[in-house]
Amino acid sequence: MRSHSCGDLRSEAIGETVLLSGWVDRRRDHGGVIFIDLRDRSGTVQITVDPDLGAEAFAAAEHLRNETVLQVKGVVRARPAEALNDRLATGAVEVLAETLLVLNAPRRPLPFQVSVHDEEPVREELRLRHRYLDLRRERMRRNLSLRHLTIQTARRFLEDEGFIEVETPVLTRSTPEGARDYLVPSRVCGGEWFALPQSPQLFKQLLMVGGLERYYQVARCFRDEDLRADRQPEFTQLDLEMSFLGQEQILELNERLIAAIWKKVKGIELPLPLPRLTWHEAMERYGCDRPDTRYGMELTNVSDLVADMGFKVFSGAVASGGSVKCIAVPGGNDAVSNVRIKPGGDVFSQAQAAGAGGLAFIRVRENGEIDTIGAIKDNLSEAKKAELLERTGAVPGTLLLFGAGDTATVNKALDRVRQYLAKELGLVPEGAWNFLWVLDFPMFEFNADENRLEALHHPFCAPNPADAHDLASARAQAYDLVLNGLELGGGSLRIHDSDLQRQVLQTIGLAPEEAEKQFGFLLEALEMGAPPHGGIAFGVDRLVMLLAGEDSIRDTIAFPKTQQARCLMTGAPGGASDAQLQELHVASTWVEPEEN
Ligand code: AMO
Repeated sequence: MRSHSCGDLRSEAIGETVLLSGWVDRRRDHGGVIFIDLRDRSGTVQITVDPDLGAEAFAAAEHLRNETVLQVKGVVRARPAEALNDRLATGAVEVLAETLLVLNAPRRPLPFQVSVHDEEPVREELRLRHRYLDLRRERMRRNLSLRHLTIQTARRFLEDEGFIEVETPVLTRSTPEGARDYLVPSRVCGGEWFALPQSPQLFKQLLMVGGLERYYQVARCFRDEDLRADRQPEFTQLDLEMSFLGQEQILELNERLIAAIWKKVKGIELPLPLPRLTWHEAMERYGCDRPDTRYGMELTNVSDLVADMGFKVFSGAVASGGSVKCIAVPGGNDAVSNVRIKPGGDVFSQAQAAGAGGLAFIRVRENGEIDTIGAIKDNLSEAKKAELLERTGAVPGTLLLFGAGDTATVNKALDRVRQYLAKELGLVPEGAWNFLWVLDFPMFEFNADENRLEALHHPFCAPNPADAHDLASARAQAYDLVLNGLELGGGSLRIHDSDLQRQVLQTIGLAPEEAEKQFGFLLEALEMGAPPHGGIAFGVDRLVMLLAGEDSIRDTIAFPKTQQARCLMTGAPGGASDAQLQELHVASTWVEPEEN
């Protein structure tokens, strides 16, 4: 149905008769001559329909609606000098139509304009409801091509490095990554359920026990968790596992993988090795384990300075084992008014949303004097004031914002305020790619609700041998790759010793029988010659989101779900008939909420 693609025609084709197929992007009637922009995946080209050269074609062109699927036969010719369009790749030529054949005309009004000339933002709901139309638009076409190129580059790199692609099951047992499982009832084994994998974690480890040595997979994962712009209920991981490599070698290989992707997709040489920070340092300096290092405003710990001052909010926090930390907002004196920091203000609300009671502040004035609420000022000696300014790097014009309380809340609040103000004050530089490895995560964190330790990543990460004396407080040999404040990927060296694995499962509160029941197959495998191994998984949707400059992973997925985990196009999830439920040995307890 075509000899060429629309977007590929250039001056070299002048004089050739071509056959094109595509969509009518738009049609313009120019007093006797009709111009059609014909679009296919490769781009658009102008078709000129002159009544003198074919009355039939002209008659057909007069009634063409946008998005008609059209086949055009014609001759390529140079555009007249005044009609050259250097913004279009095909702008030097046009195709003089001989025949037009309508392959399929739209039979209902289009819910939104598709044309490449139409820059109007379309409501996301409408885009998702008619995703097939949205996919014809330039933005999604570009994003999906970029996704393809990203995955293709990764595959080529990994295959050159000796990795083998293996598919792992989707109907499986629960694979703990900290989210809720999607469950599938078994018809055959009544009363039993498959879980969809939250990741291929255990299978990839078992592939290492199986002697595969280097595995990768572009793997679909399923997690029933609260959705955000960077989270979908089903998403894709670039999942890797390697035997006989230490952490350094794994990091080095993955840096080269990421660099290969940036080179191919963005034409950018990333300087290697990538920067690193320990988890502890990240928490201390940024208050979070995935810091955005594109801008400053780092957290400064001033607990020691304020511990014995008369201001109770500060000294009390330190006395009860917490911290006082602050961020220095450059130019914050002018940019951030008191109203914004006090209850009801936007900056206050950010801190509050993170669980903080409020923010104390100090303004550094032109003469180096400080301005603050009385209680701090009255209790800060000249020496301490000087030390505070020195430590925070505050200069005249700087606003110091303080969080005081238990360390986790202080970190959370100041991290949130830092990120909020950086955006708000325009401190985030355009075009920066700030990668960061965060290393040495703790093995466990305390879950206060359940009063037990839980694995920070997952319970298969190997502890640092240097911390073997106290597993509960040990660091894991785990690493996350962070880019511009977003977690791109994470992994670890794994436990390959069954006794140690049992100990870790026990530490997170699994009784030996329960551990055996849930993970007996893994423990058994570890007892049959498991090699030392480790790996990582990158979030492909997030990777592509950042490469494409998008703000949501929904714009990097062909058919994504909404915040309510629904597909607006197919309407999924949907009901099941009583017969189906019966066959699956399932009864629904769902009660439709009453409308008020
Ligand atoms: P983790 O849980 O950190 O590690 O997941 C790896 C990466 O997957 C991405 N990701 C998501 N992307 C979109 N939507 C989601 N709901 C979502 N959840 C996670 C993130 C994240 O960094 N088995 C381990 C890896 C390993 O240890 O090898 C794992 O799944 O970019």
